[in-house]
Amino acid sequence: MIIGVGTDLLDIRRIEQTLARFGERFCSRVFVDSERVRCERRANRAACYAQRYAAKEACAKALGTGLRQGVFWRDMVVTSLPSGKPVLTLTGGARRRLDALVPDGMEPAIEVTLTDEYPMAHAVVVISAVPNGSRAAPLA
Ligand SMILES: CC(C)(COP(=O)(O)OP(=O)(O)OC[C@H]1O[C@@H](n2cnc3c(N)ncnc32)[C@H](O)[C@@H]1OP(=O)(O)O)[C@@H](O)C(=O)NCCC(=O)NCCS
Repeated sequence: MIIGVGTDLLDIRRIEQTLARFGERFCSRVFVDSERVRCERRANRAACYAQRYAAKEACAKALGTGLRQGVFWRDMVVTSLPSGKPVLTLTGGARRRLDALVPDGMEPAIEVTLTDEYPMAHAVVVISAVPNGSRAAPLA
């Protein structure tokens, strides 16, 4: 069953400006090392960061909190399978909020999808609860 849906649309030019102005301070506040390594390798690093920023905002909406109530940017981490499919993993306050949403006997499953078409980046997050042990292993 679906327990939360979130979406966010972001102007990549805002991230370009923020990177130029705040650089390290912005990146270290919002992104974990693995996200930074991936984006710094990209030709368009701002688009990569913008997609991940949008994913975190979309996730915060799916959690029903926004970036509040103990849910912080770095609690929501986007990684990628070898196929390129993004995966969203929650820690800290975001994980605690997620666990509080999931009924007994169930476990959470999070789907995230990202896209960009300059100057816009977009993310959608769907949070479901599935019976314990029934979550499909991600395909590589
Ligand atoms: C929820 C949040 C993520 C919205 O992000 P936003 O980029 O400000 O605004 P968006 O236009 O993308 O989304 C706004 C919509 O989110 C939805 N929303 C607001 N609070 C929400 C919540 N707690 N749960 C789910 N959805 C929520 C609403 O539908 C809102 O639109 P509405 O007020 O017209 O109904 C925002 O509250 C938040 O926590 N932002 C943190 C941003 C921040 O700290 N920026 C600092 C710059 S580095």
